[in-house]
Formats: sequence, structure tokens, C-alpha cells
Amino acid sequence: MATLTSSLFLLLSSSFLLTFFVNAYSTTNNTTQLLSNYIHKTPKNNKPHLNTIDSCRRAQTKWAANPHALADCSIGFGKDSIGGKHGKLYIVTDPSDDAVNPRKGTLRYGAIQREPLWIMFKRDMVIRLENELIVNSYKSIDGRGARVVISNGPCITIQGVSNVIIHGIRIHDCKPGKAGLVRSSPDHVGHRQGSDGDGISIFSSSNIWVDHCFFARCADGLIDIIHASTAITISNNYFTQHDKVMLLGHNDQYTADKIMRVTIAFNRFASGLTERMPRVRFGYAHVVNNRYDEWKMYAIGGSSNPTILSEGNYYIAPNDDNAKQITKREAKQSWKNWKWRSTKDVFENGAYFVPSGYGSCAPNYSYTQSFNAVRANLVPAITLNAGPLSCVVGRAC
Ligand SMILES: *[C@@H]1O[C@H](CO)[C@@H](O)[C@H](O)[C@H]1NC(C)=O
Ligand SMILES: *[C@@H]1O[C@H](CO)[C@@H](O)[C@H](O)[C@H]1NC(C)=O
Ligand SMILES: *[C@@H]1O[C@H](CO)[C@@H](O)[C@H](O)[C@H]1NC(C)=O
Repeated sequence: MATLTSSLFLLLSSSFLLTFFVNAYSTTNNTTQLLSNYIHKTPKNNKPHLNTIDSCRRAQTKWAANPHALADCSIGFGKDSIGGKHGKLYIVTDPSDDAVNPRKGTLRYGAIQREPLWIMFKRDMVIRLENELIVNSYKSIDGRGARVVISNGPCITIQGVSNVIIHGIRIHDCKPGKAGLVRSSPDHVGHRQGSDGDGISIFSSSNIWVDHCFFARCADGLIDIIHASTAITISNNYFTQHDKVMLLGHNDQYTADKIMRVTIAFNRFASGLTERMPRVRFGYAHVVNNRYDEWKMYAIGGSSNPTILSEGNYYIAPNDDNAKQITKREAKQSWKNWKWRSTKDVFENGAYFVPSGYGSCAPNYSYTQSFNAVRANLVPAITLNAGPLSCVVGRAC
């Protein structure tokens, strides 16, 4: 009941906020003012330890009877990702894999179907994929209720599709895929050139939501978002033990990435990470309410004039005096015009953010995409549950 009340409260206060936001927008160019209007000020008697996604999900006490309702809990640019919301439930019973002729009951058999499907797992399992898993549109891969690991083989590819939700999966030690045949739908097997070894590679895709997953130690990036992908939310994930964490934008020539809009919220960038949390090219990233435990080189970087709003994050710099700076621009000159802004962030252990550019950096969320950023000093509390959750049938998850 408490969570229900607080989510109702959040719902009401977000519409209140939006009114503010829209009004502020039409009447001023003052960024400081716009951002302070947009940020929700938590009332004294309301102490959220759940972020807006988690309080939405926790209110769904019958999660096992209606897992599809999770699709309603996203926020930010990936809000409209419905995944397999309107599809049947598909239960993975078999952890084995065949990249060309997947057997019924395996993850791949469900993931390649053309119809919408909400995919869950009958029991705990470790899946070692034979080659990259090519996920078709309108799929949710939902690990609640089981301990599901995808590791020690190629991992997930989301290419040329829309509406994919990935929730509660442990993804680590991903390896490059070999060149060869991989099935991408019931009636199509394609020749693949071999994948890079990303945890999740999002390529020319839109309306994607990755929530409460665990990522570590992959051959390439943990998450790559490239080739004009957009409308994406990366939330509540736990990242650890990796060099190049998250790449947004293919390369410095690929201007089609200008359309990219990504929300990175409520994640925990935990120990053993080096750089790219994220590294952005051309597009827009709203990096909000994440916890950074440390980094070896830098936290947020980019090239090719990306726009970055860092809001209400909790940054703890490493002890290395040469690595206190959060930001890194890969450019010799002209970066002074790039719009990179920090607002309401908390800086610990000497961390500092170098801002640049003029004019608004606001995400301009629609009514349904907008949400309440909490005060940065609450971020350690709201990111405590980052990564996969332990969910028991009959209890709130
Ligand atoms: C805001 O700034 C833009 C560009 O700098 C300018 O064109 C516009 O007139 C300004 N609007 C207001 C309300 O000052
Ligand atoms: C913008 O708004 C802030 C907060 O209201 C104010 O302190 C600041 O002076 C304003 N800046 C300009 C250029 O008007
Ligand atoms: C929001 O609108 C402002 C003003 O037009 C713009 O500068 C900014 O880039 C927009 N943000 C996004 C995410 O499109």
C-alpha cells in the first residue's frame, strides 16, 4: 500500500512538474531556470528509496500472473518500448542453443519469432550461445523468478528492429561471434560477418529498454548503441569489471546518429570500470541519477558534438589525482560549443565536471516520458537494487 500511495503521489507530482516545465520553456532561455523548474524537489515527508521505475513495478504484486505489466514502467526516451506486451507468454525450458535451427523451448526459438512474445524462464539457467542472439521486434526477455545468465559465448544483437525489453538478465564474459549462418526469423537465416563480443549491441533500432541487468567483462563494449538507433532507456543496471562500458554513436563520420536519444538512469557503475559511461557521438544523452563508484580514466566522454545532460548523479572520483575529471572530449578544438551540462550532481573525492556550450540541454520529454529525478544524495539508496532482482512468486518484486 505504501508503494502504491507513493507511486500515485509521483504520478500526480510529475504532471504538476510538467506544467512547470512547459511553461518555463515557452517563456525563458535561461538554462539554469529551466533545469531547476524541471527537477523535482522531493517533499520532506516523502523518502523514496525506490526510483520511479521500481515503485511502478513494486506496485504490481501479481507480477508472475501478469508479467506483461512491466512494460508500463519505463521512463525517458525508451518509454514507448512495449516489448512483447501484447504477445503470449513463451517459457524457456532448454538452455541449449543452435544458431541456425533453434529447438522449441530455447531462448533463440522465442527471440526470433515474428509475433510479439513475453519470454520468461522456467528455472535458473546458464546459456552459452553458439552465435549472437538476433532478437526480433516486439520481444521481452524477462529473467524475473529465475537466475538467468548469458555468458562465455556471443551475446545479444538487436538489429534493425523495434520494441525490445530486456530485464533481469546476467550478461558477462561475452565473446566475439564467428562468421557464419545465424537465424533471425522463422523464415530467414542470414550470413553474419562475426560479432564484436558486445554484451548488447543495439544497431539501427528504436524503442528499446534495458532494465535491471548485470554486465561485466565482455570482449567489446558492455552496451553499444549505434547506426541511428534511438528512443532508448538504459536503467537500473549494474556494471562492473570492464574497460569500455557504453558506446553511443558509431564513428565520427556517421552523422545519422544525430537522431539518437538515450536516457541512462538509476544505474550503478560499480568497481573496476575504466571509461565510456557513456561515450557519445552526435546524439543526445540524458545521464540521470546514476551512481559512479569510481573510474580509471573518465566517466563521460564523447566526440562529434554530442549533447549531454548530467543530472543528479552521484560521482565518486578515483584516488588517482590525474583522473578526477568526469568528462573527456576527444577533439582538439571547437568542443567549447558542445552542449555538456551538469546540474544537481554530487561530486565526491574531488570529482569535477567540465561543462561547455550555450543554450538548452533539456531532454524535452513528452508527458509520458517525463519522470522525477531525485536529489543526488538519494542516489546511493535508489541504486541499491541495481542489477537483477530476486523475485518470488506471490510477493512484490
Ligand atoms: C532564445 O535564444 C535563441 C537563440 O539564442 C533566440 O533565437 C531566441 O529568440 C531566444 N528566445 C527568448 C525567449 O529569449
Ligand atoms: C537565470 O536564472 C537563474 C535562476 O533563476 C538566475 O540566478 C540567473 O541570474 C539567470 N541568468 C540570466 C542570464 O538571466
Ligand atoms: C530541447 O529543445 C532545445 C531548444 O530547442 C534544444 O536545444 C535541445 O537540443 C532539445 N533537446 C533534445 C533532446 O532534443
